[in-house]
Amino acid sequence: MAEIVGGIGTSHIPGIGAAIDRDKTQEPLWKNLFDHYEPVREWLQELAPDVAIVVYNDHASAFSMQLIPTFALGVADRFLPADEGYGRRQVPTAAGSPELAWHLAERLILDGFDLTIANELDIDHGCTVPLSIGCGKPDQWPFAVIPLCVNVIQYPPPTGKRCHDLGAGIRRALSSWDGDERVVVFGTGGMSHQLQGERAGLVNADFDTAFLDGLTADPGQIAAIDHPTYLRDAGSEGIELVMWMVMRGALGDDVTETYRHYQVAAASNTAAGLIVLEPSG
Ligand code: DHB
Ligand code: FE
Repeated sequence: MAEIVGGIGTSHIPGIGAAIDRDKTQEPLWKNLFDHYEPVREWLQELAPDVAIVVYNDHASAFSMQLIPTFALGVADRFLPADEGYGRRQVPTAAGSPELAWHLAERLILDGFDLTIANELDIDHGCTVPLSIGCGKPDQWPFAVIPLCVNVIQYPPPTGKRCHDLGAGIRRALSSWDGDERVVVFGTGGMSHQLQGERAGLVNADFDTAFLDGLTADPGQIAAIDHPTYLRDAGSEGIELVMWMVMRGALGDDVTETYRHYQVAAASNTAAGLIVLEPSG
């Protein structure tokens, strides 16, 4: 059985990746945010997981707008950083975990989750920025990566409840795996933000804080947040938070919140949230 040893919820703001790539993390604009990433990097290093399942959304990088899978699982043996218009990010190619990923695909599909299987997938900022937040600038990512893409860019995205259920399905699938990998799950995106239209720049700290509180203590209630509520209270891109529900579902009912940070980041349109959950019991 593979064991889930931790969960991370984090924003995947592209500007944060750019600050890391350009060695600006210690500049006044960024230092406070990156200081608050340090405890999570230390925790992750100590935890030393074998595999990270990174739940993120492709921003029309790998799939384009012609093909938008609701859920797509990367089963390749490696994943290149995507070219999002400025060349590929100069971060390591992620090593996949194909055997475990195929096991997840099989168990989840037979369990009723109709996943798309991605044999080739370039990972965009949604996936690479969380890896940088968690690991800094290593020569190689210190664990294998299984990317899990969720559509949150074209209506209708899956519900928070569906995402929470998918996470629970991942937990079940890992429990029937022969290997003994230690797995960490990243839920990425959000928090409240709107990149377009009259309300561009919207940040709702009350909503975000209530989301973080409920994510830990009452995930069923948070999973029930419907699309109009996300749109109204968290802006048009706040729906990215449903991806945190996959992570939460994978952690099981009882968790301990061991870290949280929340601030509106520089060079971005959203608050940067960061939470660490560990399964208890
Ligand atoms: C921003 C945030 C995102 O999640 C994203 O995908 C793109 C941009 C932003 O804050 O600017
Ligand atoms: Fe995004």
